[in-house]
Amino acid sequence: MDILGIETSCDETAAAVVRDGRTVLSNVVYTQIPLHQPYGGVVPEIASRAHVEKISEVVKTALAQYAEAVPGGSVDAVAVTYGPGLSPALIVGLNAAKGLAMSMDVPLIGINHMEAHLHTPFLDAEPGTPPPENCTPALGLAISGGHTCWFDIPEYGVYETIGQTLDDAAGEAFDKASKLLGLGYPGGPKVDRIAKAYFAAAGGGKDLIPFPKGHPREGVSALAGLPAELCVSFSGLKTALLRHVQQNPSLLAPEPGAPVLEYAPGATVTMEVARVVASYQEAIVGAVADRTRRALRRRSYRALVLGGGVSLNSRIRSVLADVARSAHVELLMAKPKYCGDNGAMIAALAYYRRNIVGDAAMRLDVAPSLETGV
Ligand code: KG4
Ligand code: ZN
Repeated sequence: MDILGIETSCDETAAAVVRDGRTVLSNVVYTQIPLHQPYGGVVPEIASRAHVEKISEVVKTALAQYAEAVPGGSVDAVAVTYGPGLSPALIVGLNAAKGLAMSMDVPLIGINHMEAHLHTPFLDAEPGTPPPENCTPALGLAISGGHTCWFDIPEYGVYETIGQTLDDAAGEAFDKASKLLGLGYPGGPKVDRIAKAYFAAAGGGKDLIPFPKGHPREGVSALAGLPAELCVSFSGLKTALLRHVQQNPSLLAPEPGAPVLEYAPGATVTMEVARVVASYQEAIVGAVADRTRRALRRRSYRALVLGGGVSLNSRIRSVLADVARSAHVELLMAKPKYCGDNGAMIAALAYYRRNIVGDAAMRLDVAPSLETGV
């Protein structure tokens, strides 16, 4: 079954065709990052306008690539993200998908963006990767610019939230730190590269600043009944970073001759900034690894399934690989090109999850705060 997937929940306009939930036949992602860069974050109105301008071209290109891969083929259904995400952005994809499903005379399928991220390890997976239905019970970790959530997945398609961030998502925490340190948007990829270069130059994680590790206080109402040991809070970390920057003005106005670190060809930061960045990343990675370790101890899982843009982070990937190894569970991570937002994950999940289909999907409205597993 070949499904066309459409994704416009944030700042990527994306479309793809996937066969039987796993084989990617075409995949087109137009990223709006350069449009949002001057503002240091995603501006919903700009995102919406850019989706309107690009959606037809992106879908046309995805269908043209599909026609090349499968001459004479025709898609069997259209799938689309209806939440969570930015309302004016989601509307563009949902309306386009409704129109396409009608004109192609195929069913429409409504898809939850976070559930789709958790399907990404199965996209074009290495031979030997078990099918999703053979990986449960699994612990799911969705970690992106908008979410940081741990899910119990007792069987494929059933998601129960067992832990989450009480404030900022991990990606948001990376992006805010990057903005504060004048490193630009999006912050995650830069922080990753700078920290990696720092660890290489400093010979490991020596001299790191002991930033808070995001433990929420037991009993606070924000936990909403979830166990504190499986939740994180990054607001204290953000405040600690702000205080550190205020107390060390040379971070933003370096002394002439301050030692620098080249973290990418031609791109440098001062060693002092690199140390702060590496320490900050380590606090986030440490918090995520600690909660994951605890979640893995609570029941016997077959796999740890990772999804979302932050799962691209090289340090998170290697630390979680150790965590999974110690807990004797298989770690399933997406290929880097499927970690960020894309249409392939929407098309792929739709093969397995057809709970909102046909007329019900045609009646769908966008759900910016859509929960996972409902
Ligand atoms: O999943 P995604 O593409 O969009 C959302 O659904 O949010 O995730 C985007 C987030 C951004 O916050 C970005 O800074 C972060 O993922 N990110 C990273 C890395 N690459 C992207 N964070 C840490 N390390 C990375 N290498
Ligand atoms: Zn996403």
